[in-house]
Amino acid sequence: MKLEQQTINGIEIRIAENTDQASAVTAELIAEQIRQEPRSVLGLATGGTPMETYRRLIQMNQAGNVSFAEVTTFNLDEYIGLSPDHPQSYRAFMNANLFQHIDIDLQKTHVPSGIAVDIASECKSYESKIRSAGGIDLQLLGLGHNGHIAFNEPGSPGESRTLQVDLTAETIEKNSRFFESIDQVPRHAITMGIATILESRRIVLLALGESKADAVARMLRGLITSSHPASELRNHPAVTVVLDRESASKLGSTELSPKS
Ligand code: PGA
Repeated sequence: MKLEQQTINGIEIRIAENTDQASAVTAELIAEQIRQEPRSVLGLATGGTPMETYRRLIQMNQAGNVSFAEVTTFNLDEYIGLSPDHPQSYRAFMNANLFQHIDIDLQKTHVPSGIAVDIASECKSYESKIRSAGGIDLQLLGLGHNGHIAFNEPGSPGESRTLQVDLTAETIEKNSRFFESIDQVPRHAITMGIATILESRRIVLLALGESKADAVARMLRGLITSSHPASELRNHPAVTVVLDRESASKLGSTELSPKS
């Protein structure tokens, strides 16, 4: 596999030839973490981006190359108002795309509850569960077109911890592809905060496709600013960004204005 490696503003970048290879690299980083520490605590993400990574982890697990038997997981976020068995809930996504195909103990998998009666106390309890598990060893992230990480939209404070947020019109529109109509997309979510995410010992961000190229370039080469939350990852000492050729295509751009 041809893999280009470079460092930009202190962040290690791996650029794969295509989406499949970038997903293979990401799956291997996760598998290596588990092989080194079978009791790893993983932070997991939903969305289109990690699906091929999860498919590969399932294959590795079924081939006996990695075991999730002792792994604990915490997902980044969940829609408020969707029950765990709603097909578009992130709990249902994780069960369908990963958990039900691997040897993980479902009791050790955590997704915030979007139907908790008291959302504020659900957020607090999520933070304390992460702490009790010893913190997150490796957090997998996708990247929003607007620079969001999890549901931390532009303008989110860097010191935020698991909290209730309003989704932006852009995110609602983008996520409507998974629902019958845009009216069915929840308007609010629970998300790990930026500070929660930055406390993970290691972060692996995967971004795929041409549509993410601007967000990738701003994350790595723009200002570190809350208006592009992913740029705050540059304050973390152990981030690996995995890209395909298309998402990496604007990294050489000199046109990027510091404010863009
Ligand atoms: P996507 O979403 O993987 O569906 O592109 C990524 C994100 O919004 O974090």
